[in-house]
Amino acid sequence: MNLGRLFTASVKELELSGILTAEIDVKLMLGDILDKDSSFFFSHPEALVSNPAYQRFRQMIRRRKTGEPVAYILGWKEFYGMRFKVNKNVLIPRPETEMMIDLALDRISNIEYGIRNKKQISILDIGTGSGCIIISLLKNNIQYSKFNILAFASDISEKALKVAKINAKSNEVDDLIKFYKSDLLSSDRLPKNIDVILANLPYGPRGVKNPRINYHDLSFEPQNALFADKKGLDLIEKLIIQISKRNYKPKLILLEIFEDHPEPIKKLTEKYLPEYQFELKQDYANLNRLIILSLSKI
Ligand SMILES: C[S@@+](CC[C@H](N)C(=O)[O-])C[C@H]1O[C@@H](n2cnc3c(N)ncnc32)[C@H](O)[C@@H]1O
Repeated sequence: MNLGRLFTASVKELELSGILTAEIDVKLMLGDILDKDSSFFFSHPEALVSNPAYQRFRQMIRRRKTGEPVAYILGWKEFYGMRFKVNKNVLIPRPETEMMIDLALDRISNIEYGIRNKKQISILDIGTGSGCIIISLLKNNIQYSKFNILAFASDISEKALKVAKINAKSNEVDDLIKFYKSDLLSSDRLPKNIDVILANLPYGPRGVKNPRINYHDLSFEPQNALFADKKGLDLIEKLIIQISKRNYKPKLILLEIFEDHPEPIKKLTEKYLPEYQFELKQDYANLNRLIILSLSKI
């Protein structure tokens, strides 16, 4: 079949299966198989697709029709301009998480000022999953030679850590990050003097139907990466309590949150971390998405 007809027929097939992102999905999957960007499909509609490529593409279309996310079908997802391997053991990085990297880099300059005598800033990414947060931050930091960062990443899932390590290697920062298996901060092996904590922990309310959550779309991803008890607040609450018990307090804590959660998290921080300043940021869709806790001295 020629490229033009295959493209049009496949978009239609996905649309009829109720896939709302049919055109972009076909561009990504066909582009991946042919190693071409989508402008090629339109400039060479008459090009013939080889039989092996056609068969592989059909297999992708069949998977996509079941609702499986394109990122799992391709085995990668772009995040912060970089490519990250993903599989069913890790959450697919979301575009709204990119703001955590921008904010971290911006706020670290204040910290550096606050602890000027310190040579390095230690950063821990908790619940690292694919590693997208800490890896993007490091790559950006290297590119602009900003700060001297000691990077750590942790996850409770061994399988997720395996993916994060592969991504660190493919993005050439594997010798700059130390990985730990840990339930939040509970492992004794984690370094004690952490200046910055970044955490995008599972925050979807477990077992409670929320009209704003599309459960079918999320059914392919690891449920322990998405949902938490206590209406989604369980892990964030535990982390806040663990931080409150540490002798060396991080200067900065960034938490990605569920849009309904600012108030309960504000109450938790007032109770356990009263010395921190609380700030709330919205994402590009104007939804509450990020909490910044900073020690008021910085
Ligand atoms: C929402 S995903 C975020 C993944 C990645 N940081 C991102 O932003 O795409 C949450 C991650 O937290 C991990 N996690 C779940 N419970 C945890 C716990 N108690 N301690 C550490 N990590 C946990 C999951 O395995 C998962 O990788």
